[in-house]
Amino acid sequence: MKPYQLIANWKMNPQDETATLELAQGLYALEKNIWVAPPAIFLAHLFKKIPGMILGAQNMSAQPAGPFTGELSGAMIKNSGGSFVILGHSERKQFGETDSTVCEKIQQALSLDITPIVCMGEKEYMKDTNELQWEWDKQISTLFSDISPRAKLYAVYEPAWAISTTEGTLGSAPVQHIQRFHSWFRERFSYPLLYGGSINSESLPSFQFLPLDGFLIGSASLQLAQMQKIVTIIKDF
Ligand code: PGA
Repeated sequence: MKPYQLIANWKMNPQDETATLELAQGLYALEKNIWVAPPAIFLAHLFKKIPGMILGAQNMSAQPAGPFTGELSGAMIKNSGGSFVILGHSERKQFGETDSTVCEKIQQALSLDITPIVCMGEKEYMKDTNELQWEWDKQISTLFSDISPRAKLYAVYEPAWAISTTEGTLGSAPVQHIQRFHSWFRERFSYPLLYGGSINSESLPSFQFLPLDGFLIGSASLQLAQMQKIVTIIKDF
């Protein structure tokens, strides 16, 4: 098995410190190499209790400090034990985040030695249109402008229409679609490329032969039984 990077994006779950710690301990006992992005408010607690776990945040300000109500600086993430940050998630773009802001955030994270996990992907109405590749070109030309091709970061292909679906295999993007993105991306960048969008033990097997470097997992990563199956399936890849 080649090493696959699994990153758990817990989004706005769980709701309290005890439940968060319980889930994190269960996951760590299952597999030590899964990176976890809990709600930022629990980051320091998890870092103290499970010092070996690779932890990160789900967002970060492009600014180092200052009057930015509700924002989280890179230094705060680092000082709370975070070593990576998910940036540009489509759920954040719904609140108006743009690719050029994400590019600034990538630069800010890299300057602090925080590994950016950079999400990209199209909206549903674009997926079968001639606009698709134009959209991909537009996104990367902004996201990675001024970013070194050798920067230590992960790119994630996460088409917005494949995230948080409840349709199992059917909810994820079809293999051919991900393959197309992968080939297009590989002609331009050598950053490791993950895929995210309704990954669970049902959808994962169909991605076995894709040349991906790992997966960003949302809702399934909140269930230990699912993660146990995912870890077992991936060992056979
Ligand atoms: P999902 O989330 O696995 O629940 O679709 C993935 C993500 O949004 O990162």
